[in-house]
Amino acid sequence: MKAIILSGGKGTRLRPLTYTGAKQLVPVANKPILWYGIEAIVAAGITDIGIIISPETGEEVKNKTGNGDRFGAKISYILQDKPAGLAHAVKVAQPFLEDSPFLMYLGDNLVQSDLRLFCEHFKVRNLDALTLLCPVENPTAFGVAKVDADGKVLQLVEKPKVPPSNLALVGIYLFSTAVHHAIASIQPSARGELEITDAIQYLIDQPKQVEARQLEGWWLDTGKKDDLLEANRIILDTCLEAAVEGEVDENSQVIGRVQIGAGSKIINCTIRGPVTIGRDCHLENCFIGPYSSVANQVTLIDADLEHSVILQGAKVVGIQQRVVDSVIGQRAQLKVAPQRPKALRFMIGDDSQIELV
Ligand code: TTP
Repeated sequence: MKAIILSGGKGTRLRPLTYTGAKQLVPVANKPILWYGIEAIVAAGITDIGIIISPETGEEVKNKTGNGDRFGAKISYILQDKPAGLAHAVKVAQPFLEDSPFLMYLGDNLVQSDLRLFCEHFKVRNLDALTLLCPVENPTAFGVAKVDADGKVLQLVEKPKVPPSNLALVGIYLFSTAVHHAIASIQPSARGELEITDAIQYLIDQPKQVEARQLEGWWLDTGKKDDLLEANRIILDTCLEAAVEGEVDENSQVIGRVQIGAGSKIINCTIRGPVTIGRDCHLENCFIGPYSSVANQVTLIDADLEHSVILQGAKVVGIQQRVVDSVIGQRAQLKVAPQRPKALRFMIGDDSQIELV
């Protein structure tokens, strides 16, 4: 079995971060989101992986992720010239997939479950499609499945006004080669995309063998800021192991599970885990509260933050109020003068959000 990971797309919901980089490379607990997907696929025993990339961010994804050696996999890159839909991505991947059944993984999704169980179910039942489902509180915001008592999928509906169930489609699917014929038979949707839900509905109507299985653990689609913060919280909560490689001075306190990368200096700070701090950072007179991830080469001076993600090379200096629920982009700078500031001076990128609450 092969796998494809979709790492193209527009990423409009995560602007402005996605103006300068791929959303799948935004770090969660200091590791690119995409890499969690690769690791989950390799853990399921699939090592021949194709990553769908876009012309805008493809080089960055390639350079960062490499040929797969670090994951024990063989990674091929497949260029999708425009974000014309999930089923379109499968179409461009067809020469890579040849006549192999495959797992399809949306590169901005994170799941807790072991994917091996789903691969086995797919093989044993000789299915044409297996969709994964997760119960959600707001099914109107998702693709939703109607499933019978045996797990057979009867119908899929995109963002239904009257949902047939509370079971949302997770961004992980397994397909036989029958999906290629289905994709060749469907038309673009009203939003101009070739939809994977339409291709699966085509298989259901044939009728082909389409089943669904419910995920056991959590599922996160990291496409928006709050989902990204939630993913960061869960990963820090469940996976972070304490490891201090940087220098922590005697006036600092490190409490709970905290990771501090090599070359980082922590001066007169309190760090309360779970927190991960990357390499070559400078932290001075700070409180870093739980569920914070600080990437490499970040400077934090006289700052207080909690439940936030700070990307590479950012600088936060002199913020007296606590910075919470925030994502601060690469090389972004936030500075407040030591005396009470008389004016606010900004250089803010398009689609940025600043809330002084
Ligand atoms: P989405 O989150 O549905 O789409 P998007 O990336 O364009 O984001 P937004 O809605 O914020 O504009 O895509 C799910 C995953 O699939 C994501 O990792 C991007 C990827 N993708 C492709 O690789 N090719 C495509 O044509 C599309 C639509 C998405």
